[in-house]
Amino acid sequence: MKRIGVLTSGGDAPGMNAAIRAVVRKAIYHDIEVYGIYQGYQGLISGHIEKLELGSVGDIIHRGGTMLQSARCEEFKTLEGQKKGIEQLNKFGIEGLVVIGGDGSFMGAQKLTEHGFPTIGVPGTIDNDISGTDYTIGFDTALNTVINAIDKIRDTATSHERTYVVEVMGRDAGDLALWSGLADGAETILVPEVDYNMEDVVNRLKRGAERGKKHSIIIVAEGVGSGVDIGRDIEEKTSFETRVTVLGHIQRGGSPTASDRVLASRLGAKAVELLLSGEEGKMVGIEKNALVSHDISDALSRGHSIDEEMYRLSQELSI
Ligand code: F6P
Repeated sequence: MKRIGVLTSGGDAPGMNAAIRAVVRKAIYHDIEVYGIYQGYQGLISGHIEKLELGSVGDIIHRGGTMLQSARCEEFKTLEGQKKGIEQLNKFGIEGLVVIGGDGSFMGAQKLTEHGFPTIGVPGTIDNDISGTDYTIGFDTALNTVINAIDKIRDTATSHERTYVVEVMGRDAGDLALWSGLADGAETILVPEVDYNMEDVVNRLKRGAERGKKHSIIIVAEGVGSGVDIGRDIEEKTSFETRVTVLGHIQRGGSPTASDRVLASRLGAKAVELLLSGEEGKMVGIEKNALVSHDISDALSRGHSIDEEMYRLSQELSI
């Protein structure tokens, strides 16, 4: 293999730049040329592709977003779109591809492999919802962003003796909610993986108030439903003054944490190693701090589950 491509796809995540840098530098270290594909699968179809040099990825390791830009591309879900993408790869003489993104991006990578084009997936998403890796690139940074926000909300919640509902991202996964709730001592954490009962939420709040608690923080994962609706419901059922904050896309930005930069560097380099050793249709990941690889198809079919021990702990500590 003499020339590979790299793209970022789906929702951007802090640390994607560090992963791109690792792919480019590791490949060039092994005398392999690297082409950057811009705007994810969209740019693959349209041929928005440029050669990257060592200097192309200088000064990006600490930046959020992705220098290659990203997109959600409906056309690439079709056979026709996939064929157009492979034509472009062939036109540029690219022999292997690294795809950095979440599960939607991995589905694209799987399709390319099925069509005979060697592709390796690097998990990059703030949602931490990819099976086959303990952490995805961007999760740690987003988690810290959420925690900083909740710390600030806690200040005003105490001053005004209010109940606060904070809605966090995560799509169908509750990791951001669970981890931030545990890290911030939230009174209640609602995640899509565990059914909740509004009566329990209300009783817990009332019990807290009886013990003299003046304010409460409730973290709602977006996959559970609208934080605004849940906040309204809580106010009606408790008559506690309630405010709702939807953190939104602030969670996707910012300079990656040290942990995300290191993870991205390790996973990006490992993806190149796999391509060079003739692997395809694999994803790289980290399990118990060791680099691993799995078939993308297995990772996609297993799906994501919440850490039950951590969920139980969050319940026990927030009595
Ligand atoms: O997958 C990352 C993510 O930020 C999810 O947490 C969220 O549900 C989604 O992307 C939002 O997507 P968009 O930026 O396309 O609105």
